[in-house]
Amino acid sequence: MTIVDVTPDRYAECLDVLRAGFATEVADFGITRENTPSNPAFWEDSAVAAVVGRGFDLFAVEQGGRIVGCAFIGPSKSRPDVWSLRHLAVDPTTRHAGYGAALVAEGARRARAAGAEVLAIGIVAENVRLSEWYRRLGFESIDKTAYPGLVFTVERMRLALTSI
Ligand SMILES: CC(C)(COP(=O)(O)OP(=O)(O)OC[C@H]1O[C@@H](n2cnc3c(N)ncnc32)[C@H](O)[C@@H]1OP(=O)(O)O)[C@@H](O)C(=O)NCCC(=O)NCCS
Repeated sequence: MTIVDVTPDRYAECLDVLRAGFATEVADFGITRENTPSNPAFWEDSAVAAVVGRGFDLFAVEQGGRIVGCAFIGPSKSRPDVWSLRHLAVDPTTRHAGYGAALVAEGARRARAAGAEVLAIGIVAENVRLSEWYRRLGFESIDKTAYPGLVFTVERMRLALTSI
């Protein structure tokens, strides 16, 4: 397993992983292209570059030269001590091999190296399996918010980086 920075020539490879990764989740939670076009399962070709353009770094895990998982990391807008991990996805054919946990650890390492004290994520609160997984990785739940127009509840979670 190798962690790599993703250069623009490989955005399409990551996009394939993001679309396939999130496609397994959306159906279970009533998420559709119509009600949640921002979900990576429905991303347009330009979406990866757009997130990078908003100040996020894209990194990935490679297996045999192929990208099998990726995530974005970057500072939150208002608080420099809080970094945000976004759109973590592992290809459905390569799950349960620790790639997801390795990407979270790499995100935490990068945030800490940049001086952050907290790594923040936002997830579909109804995805209990996912929140339990993040809890096992050391995250704690902050709150759950129902936003008008969203078909799912947003759970904010955070990992204290001062302890890693
Ligand atoms: C969450 C995710 C990145 C984990 O990737 P992974 O490489 O399988 O992670 P690991 O091997 O480190 O850990 C596996 C654990 O992930 C958890 N998990 C959460 N959602 C899962 C899913 N949809 N499928 C499989 N495992 C999932 C399980 O608890 C699993 O534990 P188990 O193997 O004992 O069942 C991957 O399942 C995924 O891409 N999911 C869809 C996208 C998503 O929900 N991303 C998070 C958005 S913030």
